[in-house]
Amino acid sequence: MAIFAVTNQKGGVGKTTTAVNLSAALSAMRYHVLLVDLDPQCNATVGSGVIVDKAAGSLSEVLLGQASIQSAIQSTNYGYHILPSNHRLTAAEVGLVGKKDKEKHLKNLLAKVKKIYHYIIIDCPPTLNILTINALVAANEVIIPVQCEYYALEGLAKLLKTIDALRQTLRVGLEIHGVLRTMYDGRNLLTRQVSERLMQSFPDKVYQTVIPRNIRLAEAPSHGMPILSYDKRSQGAASYLAFAAEMIRRSRSSQDKMIPMIEGEEKHA
Ligand SMILES: Nc1ncnc2c1ncn2[C@@H]1O[C@H](COP(=O)(O)OP(=O)(O)OP(=O)(O)O)[C@@H](O)[C@H]1O
Ligand SMILES: [Mg+2]
Repeated sequence: MAIFAVTNQKGGVGKTTTAVNLSAALSAMRYHVLLVDLDPQCNATVGSGVIVDKAAGSLSEVLLGQASIQSAIQSTNYGYHILPSNHRLTAAEVGLVGKKDKEKHLKNLLAKVKKIYHYIIIDCPPTLNILTINALVAANEVIIPVQCEYYALEGLAKLLKTIDALRQTLRVGLEIHGVLRTMYDGRNLLTRQVSERLMQSFPDKVYQTVIPRNIRLAEAPSHGMPILSYDKRSQGAASYLAFAAEMIRRSRSSQDKMIPMIEGEEKHA
């Protein structure tokens, strides 16, 4: 079992697109996946075609102590499970601030269900608030989507400093799994230049796979579908499948000893 936080303080860089489509791609490869929507914008929830069940609650009610994590987790139509979010997540975030061990709340909650899953993917909001810190404390690894534009490197340097500070103050064993180039347009000179700088600055960390700018990826969320279901022949679908495969290879070659499910094994516990 491994917990990945998809994070970048910069907004609109492809965090949610990556979290949703990575979850769907890993599911298509027959892994058990839980996607956690940690953003009050609820984009991962909506993009997974999920409507929050008021009776069972969402991550907000779980954090507010009004529902159990087990009751709030839902199946999606795309293989993976989701811990959905709703607009009350901002109130839940404020409620966390005064609590003891406020940074470890999500980690403690996920401990109750993590055995069921091979991968837990957390979609973070574009701010460094207590929710994001909870994600970074709960996670073993961080995936950083980056759009290859002028301010990307600056933002990345800031994020790496934050992660380093968290490692020291909270003593968390968090690793940077990799930097994913998103909305990539190879015809654009600036994109190529920033991409080269990224590879020079973080030679072992930049994933080989790039996610191209692809209109089908932008359309899929409005249909409540990951790209593999919306248009599996698109470049976007191929690139997220390639990314999932690279992510697994990289995990295996480091410390991960997860065993993929064998053909015919039943899905989901
Ligand atoms: N590869 C891509 N090609 C085309 N459009 C994309 C691609 N990736 C993401 N988008 C679109 O760009 C916008 C921002 O993407 P996304 O919501 O994934 O970013 P985000 O980092 O989660 O944003 P936020 O910081 O607001 O949470 C969305 O409209 C999304 O559909
Ligand atoms: Mg998002």
